[in-house]
Amino acid sequence: MAKNKNNQAIWSTRIKKKQSSFFQKVGGSINIDKRLYKEDIAGSIVHVEMLFRQKIISFKIKNKIIFGLKKIEKQILKNKFIFNEEYEDIHMNIEKKLFEIIGEEAGYIHTARSRNDQVITDLKIWMKSSTKEINSKLDQIIKTILKIAEKNIETVMPGFTHLKNAQPVSLAHYFLAHIEMFKRDKQRFINNFNSLNESPLGVAALTGTSFNIDRNYTAKKLGFDHPSHNSIDTVSDRDFVLDFLFCISVCSMHISRVAEELIIWSSDGFNIVHLSDKIVTGSSIMPQKKNPDLLEYLRGKTGSTFGNLFSMLTILKSLPLSYFKDMQDDKEIVFQSFDTIINCLKIFDEILKNISPNKKKMFELADSGFITATDLADYLVKNHSMSFRKAYEKTSLIVNYAEKKKKKLRELKIEELKKIEPKLTEEVLKVFDLKYSIKSKKSYGGTSFENIKRMIMKHKKEKC
Ligand code: ARG
Repeated sequence: MAKNKNNQAIWSTRIKKKQSSFFQKVGGSINIDKRLYKEDIAGSIVHVEMLFRQKIISFKIKNKIIFGLKKIEKQILKNKFIFNEEYEDIHMNIEKKLFEIIGEEAGYIHTARSRNDQVITDLKIWMKSSTKEINSKLDQIIKTILKIAEKNIETVMPGFTHLKNAQPVSLAHYFLAHIEMFKRDKQRFINNFNSLNESPLGVAALTGTSFNIDRNYTAKKLGFDHPSHNSIDTVSDRDFVLDFLFCISVCSMHISRVAEELIIWSSDGFNIVHLSDKIVTGSSIMPQKKNPDLLEYLRGKTGSTFGNLFSMLTILKSLPLSYFKDMQDDKEIVFQSFDTIINCLKIFDEILKNISPNKKKMFELADSGFITATDLADYLVKNHSMSFRKAYEKTSLIVNYAEKKKKKLRELKIEELKKIEPKLTEEVLKVFDLKYSIKSKKSYGGTSFENIKRMIMKHKKEKC
């Protein structure tokens, strides 16, 4: 058996000249993919167990390899493992260490596999548990939002379209809208499990292998549903990476939208939400300032999550099948997006726990901008047998009149209203009441207080 020259690259017999340390550094990924050590060791243990079951390696060798791998895992956990840039990536670092610990028999570990299937097996396992971590953070956020909603069922605010007062809504309804967004995010991450549950292990470099391996066994043991179906596609495919990055991008875009909203709501112009001192930052020159820096941080982070998605799309767009080094960058991108979203979710939850509505200001704002005009139009349709277009026109005349007189709709006298629409009676005045307006939106999914209470119950029952 050829001696393994342990301090040299695996391919040193073929490639005679050593790479410069600079080239090793740029080509290597160990400083990034060392994060996959647990998954890599788990994959290797299952792989050698399968090789033994299939009578490809002996019982003794299998045990020696597993012993060595477990020792390596402990060393890494205790920070006693020195990751070596000379060995390119986590797979090589572990294999090299295995030679050091158990000797030449380590050479059997790479039978019937390649780093090409190994790396995506590791990444898929990592991505499955990371997806669960993201979703549990989303659960926490949904819980926090639900608490805010419960406390604000009867808090009246202006619902906006184009950031202009549109129709009165309950603040709880607004926050329940955010819950819908974050629940969709959760589902979007869960949908990826279909592809994450296909095991790449055993497709080797690109063709599969002539060894009699059992890919169903390794798939099941590593928590996958089944082996992937085409060896070339398997080592070429990074769609699951794109899906993950897309899900993170959408989730961070949702966070950014809420952040932007809170920045606007807490601005001096609006002042309908108060940010506690815990979540604001001062200015180095203007002593009075309390800036919403953290919210701006959340909004800004979409720059890197979207950017990462586009980086990956660009890396893949011109790659013929199958494996290319270009794809090595996927891990740096994925880890960066993951860390960013976890960070954002933590910050976001903390922010939500530290905001409070300025209910008085919210009500005052809702009480401006002729916000109940649509209620008046609806009233005319229901009570004076008008088409909606006719009622819309009459209401516009009334709004024009109120604007000219510098009055709110609710400040108009019935006599004034009658001048524009003689059929109107005193009864119409109730439609200008903000809570009356909210209560009337009983259609499924609407803002009526009753609907909101039912929705809160529904979310609570679903336990996020
Ligand atoms: N570190 C490599 C990567 O992440 C592992 C696969 C290397 N395969 C190869 N044929 N060079 O892509």
